[in-house]
Amino acid sequence: MIYKLADKLAETGNLTDSEFLSILDCREPEFSGYIAEKARAVREKFYGKDVYLRGLIEFTNICKNNCKYCGIRCGNKNAERYRLTEEEIFECSDTGYGLGFRTFVLQGGEDPYFTDERMVSIVRGLKERHPDCAVTLSIGEREKESYQKLFDAGADRYLLRHETADKAHYETLHPKEMSFEHRIQCLKNLKEIGFQVGAGMMIGSPGQTTKNLVEDLRFLQELKPEMVGIGPFIPHHDTEFADCAPGSVEMTLRLLSVIRLILPEVLLPATTALGTLDPQGREKGILAGANVVMPNLSPSGVRKKYLLYDNKICTGDEAAECIRCMSKRVAGTGYQVVHSRGDHIKFAK
Ligand code: 5AD
Ligand code: FES
Repeated sequence: MIYKLADKLAETGNLTDSEFLSILDCREPEFSGYIAEKARAVREKFYGKDVYLRGLIEFTNICKNNCKYCGIRCGNKNAERYRLTEEEIFECSDTGYGLGFRTFVLQGGEDPYFTDERMVSIVRGLKERHPDCAVTLSIGEREKESYQKLFDAGADRYLLRHETADKAHYETLHPKEMSFEHRIQCLKNLKEIGFQVGAGMMIGSPGQTTKNLVEDLRFLQELKPEMVGIGPFIPHHDTEFADCAPGSVEMTLRLLSVIRLILPEVLLPATTALGTLDPQGREKGILAGANVVMPNLSPSGVRKKYLLYDNKICTGDEAAECIRCMSKRVAGTGYQVVHSRGDHIKFAK
């Protein structure tokens, strides 16, 4: 029965709510392998054996928000704060370029220092230095005019996880100053402007149910993002969720496969959080349908300060080591890291 549902999902790209629930609730270990195989077939149809690289530059851990799960929330007085200069960001990109990266992801907290003017200058500078590279921004909620300026400056993609598509659940994870509606509106604005857009959620965040995850799937079907970032929730010791259980690797892998089947052409990373909870997590992610990895390009001096959750991996490695390690890991799965921009098929030039 459950195997028939995976067949139906692979054939039609859709299921009813209760069928999705059965797939997420199924505890049979063999089922994960079965649905992963379906997901791999679909990803190979569109992207072959290629795994795309994104160089992640964590350029500020200063944040005005106080998300309850996050280690760099403004209320965490123990976090040691830093901000890279424009020049340092450019240096990271030059190092990355030499290592074969053709996408740079600028990720940071919602740091008011990085006004539109400053961000536009950074995006322009990156594009001037490396015109053959894609620039992805992951800098949180901003107004539509601001997103438009960043797009006009040359930014290609934007990542903004919706975190959960259930308003009540969203409100238990965020302080009351933050608005679920605003976050969703941001994603719609980004789409309208023409970015390749990434949404996504944490798996196993406190209070999350499999019903909530079905709502996430429906949301993704409606938004049709070009990228979906998912990873297990991992507690951070300086948050009110310090004692909560982490999300499950199994459930994350199951969702990677399901997302590949509902959005066949999506760019889907095997995330650092997955690699943090399981030493083979990213490899398993690739085998479950993921086709992107995001090695860290941040300067080694600041890596231990960008801690969204505890025990984060790759915080002690230089960029060159990280990329070597990652290429080896990917090769071990039978897939291969490629050095192209790795655009979504609909945006490929
Ligand atoms: N565990 C896992 N992922 C987290 N994020 C933030 N805090 C945590 C945590 N404790 C994720 C959020 C955010 C992304 C940058 O990192 O989904 O959007
Ligand atoms: Fe960073 Fe392995 S991927 S050290």
